[in-house]
This record gives sequence, C-alpha cells and structure tokens, in this order.
Amino acid sequence: MDQSIKPATNLHGKIAVPGDKSISHRALLLGAIAQGTSHIHNLSPGKDVMSTRGCLAQLGISIEDEASETIVKGGGLYGLRKPVQILDAGNSGTTVRLLSGILAAQPFASVIDGDASLQRRPMARIIAPLREMGAHIEAEEGGTLPLHIHGGRLNPIDYFSPVASAQVKSCLLLAALYADGETQIDEPGLSRNHTEIMLPIFGVDVKKRGRRVGISGQAAPHAADVDVPGDLSSAAFFIVAALLVSGSHLMLKDIGINPTRIGLLRVLESMGARVSFENQRTICGEPRADIYVRSSDLQGASIGGDIIPEIIDELPILAIAATQAYGETVVRHAKELRVKESDRIEAVAMNLRAMGAPVKAFEDGFVIRGPQRLRGATIDSYHDHRIAMAFAIAGLLADGETVIKSAECAEISYPGFFNTLHEMALQ
Ligand code: S3P
Repeated sequence: MDQSIKPATNLHGKIAVPGDKSISHRALLLGAIAQGTSHIHNLSPGKDVMSTRGCLAQLGISIEDEASETIVKGGGLYGLRKPVQILDAGNSGTTVRLLSGILAAQPFASVIDGDASLQRRPMARIIAPLREMGAHIEAEEGGTLPLHIHGGRLNPIDYFSPVASAQVKSCLLLAALYADGETQIDEPGLSRNHTEIMLPIFGVDVKKRGRRVGISGQAAPHAADVDVPGDLSSAAFFIVAALLVSGSHLMLKDIGINPTRIGLLRVLESMGARVSFENQRTICGEPRADIYVRSSDLQGASIGGDIIPEIIDELPILAIAATQAYGETVVRHAKELRVKESDRIEAVAMNLRAMGAPVKAFEDGFVIRGPQRLRGATIDSYHDHRIAMAFAIAGLLADGETVIKSAECAEISYPGFFNTLHEMALQ
C-alpha cells in the first residue's frame, strides 16, 4: 500500500500512542510461564506483539482480550505444549530471541522461523551463549533462521555479551530462570532494562550491580498485573514532527520514559528542543509521563558511545530532525543499525538523497548537514516500520508530494499511525 504525504502547516492537540512494544512482549512471555492468570492493560496491538501471541498460542497458552485487558493463563515454567507446527515469529526479532531462551529449556523440540527480513538477521548472538548453557540449537550456516531447538536442562553461565542488546540479555535472563544456579550477564553498554524491571513484578528476584544482572535459576514466576505505558519509540515520530513543523505544540499522553529509552529526548534537548514532562509517575516499575513538545530551532549534534543503545530505534527519525538542524549532525558507533528490520543506515541515506538531502554514510553511522530543503519523493520503506514512519514525517516538511511505498509495515509497531498523522497534520 502506498501512502501519500503532503506538507503540513502545524500540529497541535493530544495524541495517545499504542502500548510499548518491548514491555508488551515481556508481559506476554512472563505471563505464559508464570503460574496463574496475568492481566495486561494496554498491550501493544502491533503485528510484532501479535507474533509473540501467535507463538504462545501454538505453545498452548490461552491469551484473550477482555475490554481493555489481555488475559494470559500461564501454566508455570513447564506449562508449554510441544508445538505441532513451525513457530512463526514474523518480522519480530524480539519474539525469536526472547522466546528462544524459554524454548531452550523445554522438554520438547521446536522450530522457530520468520519472514525474509528476520531470516537475514543475526542469531549467533543468542545461539552461542545458549549453547554455553548447554542448549542444543541448530541454525542455517551464518547463524540465521530457522532455529531448531532441542530443549533440555540448562546450566547457569557468567556471560559478557559482545553486543549491547536487550534481546540477548533478556533471552539469557529467561533461560536463566530454568538453570541450576545463578546466571550473571554483562554487556558493553546498558541496553533497555524492561526485563529486569518486570521479573520482580512476577516474583523473581534480580540482582543488579551496574550493568551486571544476576538471577537464580528454578525461580518460578507467579502471575502478575502489568500496565503498559505508551511506546516512546512510536511517540518519537510525532515528537520530531511537532519540533520541526513550525507553530506546532503537541501533548503525547502517558508515554514510558524509562531512562534506558529516552536517549532521543536527551539528544534533542541538547540540540535545542523544547520538550517537557508533565504528570510524571511510576507504574509497574516503569516511569511514565505526558510529553509536551513545541516547535523549536535545532542545532546539529555529535552522537556516539554509550547513548547509542538508548537511541538505537530512534536514529532514523533523528536523521530527519538532523536535516532541519543548523550545522552537522554526526552519528557513530551505531553499526547495529545495519542488522535491524532493514539496513537502516542504507535506508536512511538512500531515501534522504532521493529527497535532495546529501548524507555521508559510514559503516557505523552517518553525517547530515542542515538545514536542508527536502523535496517530495518516492520513498522505499524497505518494509521497515521505522523507515516508513520516519519518512512520513520527512514528507510533512518537503515541497510537494511524498509517497511511502509498502507503508502498511508501520503496523509492525503502530497500527493507525497514518490515520493519526492525517488527523493531526494533514487535514
Ligand atoms: C528490543 C531491543 C532492541 C530494539 C528492538 C526491541 C527489545 O534490539 O532495537 O526494537 O524489546 O528488547 P537489540 O536488543 O537487538 O538492540
């Protein structure tokens, strides 16, 4: 499906975005292996979370929607059923990586696969440590899907991950629930910490020392109630739209502001963005707030090092902000962008060039000099939700019409994104 985007005059009003994708996956997975019935409020309706739901249904877990809640009937650590068919993780890296940690410990074999994009993504980063724990896993040559997992007993490990990845960390934390003894996980930079926050809510003790996370095995989670905040990674598109389209002021309601996720806001503030938090509170261990944004003049920034894991999903929309900022914006140490749903360095560079903005791309980042006048163009979304949505925002600023190809991929994390965009900016 193509989406046509026209220049916007301004954005104002209030927006609620879907529930956080990362927290939603974790609530479903922990609910499935907890003893008892868990209630999840504001679960993400995105297709990635539907993939986790679908896999859990294939594993015999009942998940039902009732009014505004999702009800998960967990069967305990060993309450999953051997799947009859191949588990389909769709486009979702979080589904395949987190669920593999659980499957590695089950008393049955399973196969997990995904779409063409997921089949290109690296799985060695979870296969190696799971094998160290004693798991039996086979992958395609090059460590890609499908994974054949022969579940069994797991040993605890002390593991330093070569990548700062919440998916790796969470995969191992879930596997560690089944191990005989204490597992310790460390990583080169702090990745999002939603799993560590949620485990104690499900009754599992987590020991934290700096970036090191420790967990004792055979700790059976019990059912819990989880309230999911709005997804900052989805709000990010409207935050940047309101900053860049002059005369805008926008309130994004009830958004998760976990410190491991708000790198984008910290960078934008350093660039001159007028962003403030209202009504701050913490629910289920996760801080949240209403985010108020007013259009602002931005300056370029230099971004790299420890902040990269905190901003990794927001770098495509930050690149759009960079085209309107005065001076150079440099992003380095973000090689992980090359192995996301698409090669996001390539996708950003190709599409910005199509809109008339020069971009210098590196293996681990890019440089954009602003401000640039963007011109409407045909955008290749690369079937990547965050590329489609980032360039829809670029289209609001461009001269003439912008057409986003395969725009339906936005539904991976944000069903209704284009409806909200039309209501807010394109009346
Ligand atoms: C996620 C972790 C990040 C992020 C992804 C969601 C998660 O991936 O990019 O969108 O829910 O744990 P990595 O752990 O691979 O960096």
